[in-house]
Amino acid sequence: MTKAPTPKTGFWEGESLELGRRYAYPPESLPLLLDYLGAEANMRILDVGCGSGFLTRLLARSLPGVHVVGLDADEKLLELARHQLVEEGLRDRVELLEGNAYLLPFEPESFDLTTSYTVLCIMSDPMKAIQEQIRVTRKGGFVSAVTCFCHTDNLPHYHGRYPLPGNHRVDELNYQLWRTWRQAIRPRLLDVDHDIVNQDILWQFRASGLKDVRIDGHLMLFSPGDDRVSIEEGAAYASASHRLTLERLEKWRHEHGEELAEAGFSHEDFEELLELKRARYEYLQEDPARVREVMEVFTDPLIITRGTKA
Ligand SMILES: C[S@@+](CC[C@H](N)C(=O)[O-])C[C@H]1O[C@@H](n2cnc3c(N)ncnc32)[C@H](O)[C@@H]1O
Repeated sequence: MTKAPTPKTGFWEGESLELGRRYAYPPESLPLLLDYLGAEANMRILDVGCGSGFLTRLLARSLPGVHVVGLDADEKLLELARHQLVEEGLRDRVELLEGNAYLLPFEPESFDLTTSYTVLCIMSDPMKAIQEQIRVTRKGGFVSAVTCFCHTDNLPHYHGRYPLPGNHRVDELNYQLWRTWRQAIRPRLLDVDHDIVNQDILWQFRASGLKDVRIDGHLMLFSPGDDRVSIEEGAAYASASHRLTLERLEKWRHEHGEELAEAGFSHEDFEELLELKRARYEYLQEDPARVREVMEVFTDPLIITRGTKA
């Protein structure tokens, strides 16, 4: 038997995960997400790589009689998940465990559904993780996963238009930075081969022996200037999102500026991008109502793959 890879959990920021997830779905679309994942009332469910617990809480909150186990290798994120569970009064339906997705600490056939949200797509050996999910799922139960396109260098992102100089340039620099980051730095931090794309996840579901494999999907869309969102809420989202982006960029520049420059994104480009981003952040800070005026949209296509254990 091959040795299971040790978990490389990456560099996920709980605040950013929570923020993204909070605005990802209009409430009316959530039942569809649960349906695609194969989640039903009274199930025993495992959420692998639960992070700060977005999906864990959604399952526990939405489905009567479920027992949900959230597992993650990052204790910091689990701490945040614990805190959120208490806030929402969901403690008695959920168990949180530190553990490795490649070596799940459960007996065979312990769950009716094992699932994960944006985890397989960032792993070095997704097949090994799928096989572990299958092992701990009962016969006739579901194995599912939400995966994103972060390996494909092709995330659409519309930045809105500001009455400030540099609209075109900010798009260009942002694209170049993310492209360089995904190609030159991120695979090493996550210990993944960046050729892994979502097609492989689908193929691996089939190759792993799961039956009735099906694919669904949706487009996660953040549009804080949308009229369905109040100005206060939209401005709070846009402001937090810009702040977290600036913090992340400062961190990347500090920790990986040299490597990025060697890979083609120069120090001058970085400075220019930060300046343009800071100006946009300050512009929104001056008047919350401007969130409508600039109408930024952030999008992320997600695929939901599901199979049945034979
Ligand atoms: C992109 S985050 C997604 C978190 C959460 N599912 C969500 O959607 O908000 C990826 C998560 O996978 C976890 N992870 C990655 N590799 C893992 C492994 N081998 N075992 C356990 N957790 C792992 C990370 O710690 C992180 O919380």
